[in-house]
Amino acid sequence: MAGLPPFVSPLPATLVFGSGKIREIGKVTKALGGRALVVIGTGSLEKAGHLAVVEAALKEAGVECRVFAGVPAEPAVEWVDRGREALALIDAEVVVGIGGGSVLDVAKAIAALAREDQPALAYHRGEAKVTQRGLPIVAAPTTSGTGAEVTPNSVLTDAELHVKASLRGGDLMPAAAIVDPELTVACPPDVTAYSGLDAIVQALETYVSRGASPYSDALALRALELMAPALGTAVRDGANLEARERMALGSTMGGMALACARLGLVHGLAHPIGHVWALPHGFVCGMLMPAVMEFNLPVAAGKYAAAAKAIGVGDDAEELVAWFKALAAEVGMKRPAAIDAKPMTAEEEQLIVEQTLASGSTKHNPRTAEEGDVRAMLREVVGAR
Ligand SMILES: [Fe+2]
Repeated sequence: MAGLPPFVSPLPATLVFGSGKIREIGKVTKALGGRALVVIGTGSLEKAGHLAVVEAALKEAGVECRVFAGVPAEPAVEWVDRGREALALIDAEVVVGIGGGSVLDVAKAIAALAREDQPALAYHRGEAKVTQRGLPIVAAPTTSGTGAEVTPNSVLTDAELHVKASLRGGDLMPAAAIVDPELTVACPPDVTAYSGLDAIVQALETYVSRGASPYSDALALRALELMAPALGTAVRDGANLEARERMALGSTMGGMALACARLGLVHGLAHPIGHVWALPHGFVCGMLMPAVMEFNLPVAAGKYAAAAKAIGVGDDAEELVAWFKALAAEVGMKRPAAIDAKPMTAEEEQLIVEQTLASGSTKHNPRTAEEGDVRAMLREVVGAR
């Protein structure tokens, strides 16, 4: 019998989990530096009153801070350069990111490229290499989705080349992650639904990935057990803290698993599809998952069946697929109008197929996807041209 598969599991040095734990952000940040750039999104953190709590905690701990606000969903690479300019204004020693996956990804890239001199696009396109150590990062998610608080990559969009891709590297791993489920209570139902579907898809993809090991399996399966019964409740009743806690811990554990074992074909397809129709990442993942599970059945049915049993939705792989479809419909997944309004062109189909085949996620899918498979699945999901 072959030995256990080797693996590398990148992790933040400190992971703080619990409702109300955002109040520890001062102490956690101070341990890493006395001047912080605080990266946030487009206003919901302020409206919910969390920004004031964060600023007070930082001040109390003796951390000087400057807020860099306005990072949008699915951000362009240029946001990183704007943040790097803001860094210089305070001579920051640490970058704090508080927001959804997009905010955390921008914060991580700002920190990782803090001491580099080329525009962020040069690193994103692979034309320049990171040679200097970045700044430490504190990451606090306000959505339960990507797990960006515990992963060493940053997904950014190159608008000119129409490429949504990851920057990767050790300096993108947060030094500290603070996962406070209370921060997600203000997350609206649609964002809760799509980010939650992303988290569940990530756990499912990681569980059957070619990079999976007993270590990542334990994280991914427990993440699924936590999230499966909670997502519907979190969407319907955002103030239900138990559901929010299950989603927050599940998405973080799923992130730890994927940072070690990687993802699969859903994530290979999701980036170019999301870019072409400007759709939220989690929505696209939810839309693609059933077709990818059906494609993977010949090689992954055993593990899908184990997942179905673990979360109590059946005994075989088909029941897991049926459960996922029902869950996605329950939380509002429907065919996006954007696709019917702008049918796929031949050029777009080619771009999506090429980017999907080149993706590291696709390479970790348990069943090898050839060009014809990707094209067929794409046509099945977004409709034939
Ligand atoms: Fe994802």
